[in-house]
Amino acid sequence: MSKSLSGKIAVVTGASRGIGRSIAETLAAKGALVAVHYGKSKGPAEEVVAKIKAAGGDAFAVGADLAKKGAAQALFAAVDQELKQRTGDTKFDILVNNAGIAPFVNFADTTEEILDEIYTVNVRSLFLITQEAVKRLRDNGRIISTSSGVVRTPLPAVAAYSMLKAPLDNLAKSLAVELGPRGITVNTVAPGVINTDMAADFVNNAEGQAFAISKQALKRIGQPDDVADVVAFLAGPDSRWVTGQTIDVTGGSVITFA
Ligand SMILES: NC(=O)c1ccc[n+]([C@@H]2O[C@H](COP(=O)([O-])OP(=O)(O)OC[C@H]3O[C@@H](n4cnc5c(N)ncnc54)[C@H](OP(=O)(O)O)[C@@H]3O)[C@@H](O)[C@H]2O)c1
Repeated sequence: MSKSLSGKIAVVTGASRGIGRSIAETLAAKGALVAVHYGKSKGPAEEVVAKIKAAGGDAFAVGADLAKKGAAQALFAAVDQELKQRTGDTKFDILVNNAGIAPFVNFADTTEEILDEIYTVNVRSLFLITQEAVKRLRDNGRIISTSSGVVRTPLPAVAAYSMLKAPLDNLAKSLAVELGPRGITVNTVAPGVINTDMAADFVNNAEGQAFAISKQALKRIGQPDDVADVVAFLAGPDSRWVTGQTIDVTGGSVITFA
């Protein structure tokens, strides 16, 4: 694998499992030092770090519960401390906002508490983490957030989650303009059904798989590395002229009216 991210430092939220784990491993394989963020899954995050190191890369784990107030400060207190030890300052190059939750609850059954939690983890913490990151990002850096195909084609079974992914695409446009003069690009990726714990209801039974595949042009279930490779492109030098965009990574889900 080419070392196109050699000398770069990346912070990947929600990197203990699923898509984020694959993103962390892919960026590390391309030469980046990766901060592997976790919420509850400390052990799995440490396994990701160990796997990256065993493959010749470098990484460290940082914990912060994004459902809590002060999460952005907690995250960057830990990242800053580690980077100061390693590099002498707190600057880094790539932020991947990937952590997220998707409680499987329809519109009518969405309580105030559920709505607040989705908002806090998926939107509020992401916004505040990005604010802290921008203070530390080097010129020509990268911000990439994991949005979802449900912004384009909402899933009524997760109406609040679908609605609350739209702000990520919107923020990317504002920030692309604000940070463009510094050469920093800001984009989102929009996965469809991907084989992770989050999509277990679709992925772990034949009926769900058949439903997902029936909606896609490409006839298999998406895997975390199908998304991670696109994130790696957006994190690397070849995407230098792409900003303020949402890249659909759905295997061509629901792209015609047929
Ligand atoms: N899977 C799909 O089909 C799909 C499709 C479209 C978009 N996405 C998006 O892709 C991203 C990753 O999803 P995934 O499928 O990989 O999900 P996943 O397997 O459930 O992993 C979620 C990740 O987010 C972290 N996280 C969740 N709540 C957190 C909290 N309160 N504080 C800190 N970290 C927290 C988890 O960390 P801990 O376990 O350490 O708490 C974990 O690393 C999400 O933003 C999701 O919305 C997924």
